[in-house]
Amino acid sequence: MSPDADQNTVRLTDGTRGIRAAAGVLRAGGLVAFPTETVYGLGADARQGRAVAGVFAAKGRPRFNPLIVHVADIAAARALATFDGRAEALAAAFWPGPLTLVLPRSGGATADLVTGGLPTLALRVPAHPTAQALLSAFGGPVAAPSANPSGLVSPTTADHVLAGLDGRIAAVLDGGACPVGVESTIVGLVDTTPRLLRPGGVPAEALAAALGAELGPPPDGITAPGQMASHYAPAARLVLDAAREAAPADAVWLGFGPLDGRRGLSLSETGDLREAAAHLFAHLRTLDTLAPVVFVDPVPGHGLGAAINDRLARAAAPR
Ligand code: TXA
Ligand code: MG
Repeated sequence: MSPDADQNTVRLTDGTRGIRAAAGVLRAGGLVAFPTETVYGLGADARQGRAVAGVFAAKGRPRFNPLIVHVADIAAARALATFDGRAEALAAAFWPGPLTLVLPRSGGATADLVTGGLPTLALRVPAHPTAQALLSAFGGPVAAPSANPSGLVSPTTADHVLAGLDGRIAAVLDGGACPVGVESTIVGLVDTTPRLLRPGGVPAEALAAALGAELGPPPDGITAPGQMASHYAPAARLVLDAAREAAPADAVWLGFGPLDGRRGLSLSETGDLREAAAHLFAHLRTLDTLAPVVFVDPVPGHGLGAAINDRLARAAAPR
């Protein structure tokens, strides 16, 4: 626990009582971590500026990084931003699910701090049943970044959340391990080109198919911490695309496919990218406690592999 940790963080189970208690905390302006299909989010009522400020404080997050607003359904999303035909098409195809849309903000319901002064708003309708139950019980927009101290590895279990934020938040709603394991794909729909702002749980190939157009690159300049060079950072140094012959015999590996007797953990023994994404952050945490250097097998770049390689590259970046 950090020196300024000063709350008794409650672990709530994801039954009716836990959901109701979590919604009550949000209503009172408190912070609740909750599971989504991607990673655990650190939720606050998006309409209460003080609650949103608490999210930045708990995470130690730079103020200029805007937050994703989570809502229960597309109707609630339409009340907060302007949906054009492209936004409607992507929402129809992928919501609820691991897709975030950045759209022109409309109406003033969300606190200015959520968007960090931007004229756009990031919106997502999560599919996880516990997230859905919480959003329905709460009945309003929930601002939620990943529930980890800023810059560190995202949490995919309630234990991961407590490892980083115990004492700094009111509660964590425990819904088990997150099935997707990497954050949502973020698509910007604010100019004539749809832009891939962050690869994630929905593969870019699927988005391009639904749009009937390839996605463009992010605009110049950093608009998301996920775009900063160093992010998702474990303490260990990662050696990416490592060749087995070049590594020492006692090297610790983050494998893809069979380990074949090497020390370490495999993201997926069978080379399945979905399984690999689901294991990525938990395995990084475990290996971090085992060795100062971790050698990483090459991971294919298609489908969910794009998001996995993106997170690995940022986890490996100098800092
Ligand atoms: O899967 C996810 O997206 C998870 C779960 C909890 O929903 N959330 C998540 O939040 O990854 P966070 O804060 O760790 O990442 C949100 C990203 C940031 O990189 C932020 O800069 C970007 O979304 N973002 C938010 N609003 C934006 C906006 N208006 N324009 C561009 N990027 C935006
Ligand atoms: Mg994050």
